Amino acid sequence: MTLKVAPSLLSADFSCLREEVKRIEVNGADWVHLDVMDGHFVPSITIGPVVVESLRPQTGLFMDAHLMVSEPENHIEEFARAGVNLITVQGEATAHLDRALRKIKSLGAKAGVALNPATPASVLEYVWPLLDLVLIMSVNPGAGGQSFIPGVIPKIEYVAGQIRSRNLTMELEVDGGINRETAPAVIKAGATVLVAGSAVFKAENGMDLIGDLKNMQNML
Ligand code: DX5
Ligand code: ZN
Repeated sequence: MTLKVAPSLLSADFSCLREEVKRIEVNGADWVHLDVMDGHFVPSITIGPVVVESLRPQTGLFMDAHLMVSEPENHIEEFARAGVNLITVQGEATAHLDRALRKIKSLGAKAGVALNPATPASVLEYVWPLLDLVLIMSVNPGAGGQSFIPGVIPKIEYVAGQIRSRNLTMELEVDGGINRETAPAVIKAGATVLVAGSAVFKAENGMDLIGDLKNMQNML
């Protein structure tokens, strides 16, 4: 599968989100990653459906909403109506994962499950047929700019192996601390979508990273 890059708007300049989305679009981003935090599942509060709704007509990019919110089933409908293409819920955030995933799909969006660094992949065992994406968190959720946790590499390899052996078609996204140094091991482990926030928006020549990450796949 061709590697996709999904810059996270969390590290963008929030006073001009339209321009920030255009900037990643012209620099070759495949998706735009939207980090939604509720002040409960994680301490921070970030963007909500109204922001997503106003950005929707401004870009043709695939919108990848990562809900770091408790009881995500209460918010899925609003984000689907705001026009996101994919909704990922944290496996730890709901007692009703199957129901949440079915709800996402019934609203016409693609469905994903995110796993925190300490959460085992066994959470996926009974929901494989409902999944369009698995997101492996390579930092603890809550903030951009944290360091990559190398201990998640075996989990990426394991999930990639499960997808292959079950003959499933889905994306394997990795999120947190991705940069030029950490990306090669993540790509080798089987990731198909890389999220990068601070390395794209806050680093010097960060926009070049989008193309560089995509080319990395052919060089490994
Ligand atoms: C962390 C978020 C990530 C984060 C990535 O809670 O889910 O998407 O913004 O940012 P960097 O690339 O700076 O780790
Ligand atoms: Zn994220």
